[in-house]
Amino acid sequence: MIRAIRGMRDLLPPDTERWHQVELAAREVFRRYGYREMRLPLLERTELFARGIGAETDIVAKEMYTFTDRHGDSVTLRPEATAQVVRAFLENGLARTAGVKRYFLIGPMFRYERPQKGRYRQFHQINCEALGSDAPELDVEVILLLVDILREVGLKDLRLLLNSLGCPVCQVDFRAELKLFLFDREGWCPDCERRRGVNALRVFDCKSSHCQKLLEGAPALIDFLCPDCARHYARVKELLGRFRVDFTEQPRLVRGLDYYTRTAFEVTALGLGAQDAVAGGGRYNGLIRELGGPDLPGIGFAIGQERLMEVLPAAAADVRRELVFLAYLGAAAKDRALALLGELRAQGLAALMDFDDRSLKSQLSLADRLEAAAAVIVGENELQEGAAQVKWLADSRQERLPLGELAGCLASRLKAHG
Ligand code: HAM
Repeated sequence: MIRAIRGMRDLLPPDTERWHQVELAAREVFRRYGYREMRLPLLERTELFARGIGAETDIVAKEMYTFTDRHGDSVTLRPEATAQVVRAFLENGLARTAGVKRYFLIGPMFRYERPQKGRYRQFHQINCEALGSDAPELDVEVILLLVDILREVGLKDLRLLLNSLGCPVCQVDFRAELKLFLFDREGWCPDCERRRGVNALRVFDCKSSHCQKLLEGAPALIDFLCPDCARHYARVKELLGRFRVDFTEQPRLVRGLDYYTRTAFEVTALGLGAQDAVAGGGRYNGLIRELGGPDLPGIGFAIGQERLMEVLPAAAADVRRELVFLAYLGAAAKDRALALLGELRAQGLAALMDFDDRSLKSQLSLADRLEAAAAVIVGENELQEGAAQVKWLADSRQERLPLGELAGCLASRLKAHG
C-alpha cells in the first residue's frame, strides 16, 4: 500500500464539513470588515520567500520545500502567504488603488518541520492582510477581526499575547544591547551561537529550554522603542482596552519571520500542548518595499486551521442529518424512484438511493448506516396508490405521503425538524 507523505494528512468527512463551517464563518466576518479574497498559486520563486521572510529564519534556513523545476528555476511550495500576497499585490498593480487594501486568503502552506501534534508539513491557514496604512486603529481592526472569527467559530479560553518590535531605528540600539548580552553568556545551542552574530533577535525564537533559560534577564525591545513606536504601541493598547479585548504583554514575543515591525501578536489556546499558537501576526512596514514596491506599511495575521479545529468544541451531537434515502422494490418502482431522486435533488434536498437491487431490508439498513433522516419506500402498492411510505429514522415514525407532493412535504418536515 502506498502511504501519504509524513506530516501530510488526509482530511475526510465529517471533518471536511466542520472545516467548511469554520471557513464559512470566517468568510462572513471578513465580509463584515470589508476584506476580499485572493487565491494564489502554491508555488512561488524561492527568492520571494528568501527575501520576504529572511534567510536567517528557521522557515527559510531549514523548512522550505524547495526544488528545481524542469526549466532549472528554483521554486518553493509556499510556507506562508504574506510574502506572496505582497507579490500579487505589486504584480497586479493593486498598490495604485485607493485607501487601505484588505485581503484574505485561505489555503494550504508547506513547512518541512518535525511532525508532532499540531505541527504538520502541509497545514492550512486563514490569512488576513491589510496594506497601505500605519494607523494603530488598523492594528486594532485586524486584532478585533481575528478575535471575532475565533469567537464566531466557538473558540473559548483564548489568550492574546502582544508586543511591539519597534522599527529599524529603535532596533539599532536594541540589537547592540542584545548582542552584548548574548556574547556575555556562553553555552548557547549551535543555532543560537550563529544567530547571536548574524541576527540576534532570532535567539528569542529558539525552542531549546536551555537557551530560553540563558535568555533570562535579556534586554526587552519594549524599553528601546523610539517615541513614534512607543506612541503607536500605547494607542494600540488603549484601543484594545476600549474595545474590551483582553491581552497579555509578552516582551519576548518576536515571531518566527523577519519582516515584523511594531505590533506583533499571537493567540494561544488551552488544550493544545506544546504547539499552542492558534494564530499569529503583526505589522510588516518594510516588506512591501523590500519586495520591490513602494514604501507602504502592512499588517495581518494567519490562523492555523488544524490547531483551531483541535480546540473547537465538537459539533453538537444532535445535528440531525438531512439526507433522504429512497428504497425501492421491483423494476417499475426503481424507475419511479430514479425520477423522484431527481425531483428531490432539484428541490434542494440531499437525496440518495442504492442502484444494486438489494432487498428492502438491506436498503433500509444502509439508510440507517448513512444516518439518513428519512427512508422513502416505493414498491408496487405505492405505485398503484400514488403514495410512498416514509419512515423517519430517528424515531421510526411512519407516514404516507402522495408521490406528487413528496419533495415539498419532505422539505417542509425536514425544515421543521432542523
Ligand atoms: P506563523 O506564526 O508562522 O505566521 O503561522 C501562523 C499560524 O499557522 C500559527 O500560529 C499556527 O497556528 C499555524 N502553523 C504554523 N506552522 C504550522 C505547522 N507546521 N503545522 C500546523 N500549523 C502551523 C505566518 O505564517 C504569517 N504569515 C502570519 C501573518 C500574516 N503575519 C502577517 N500577516
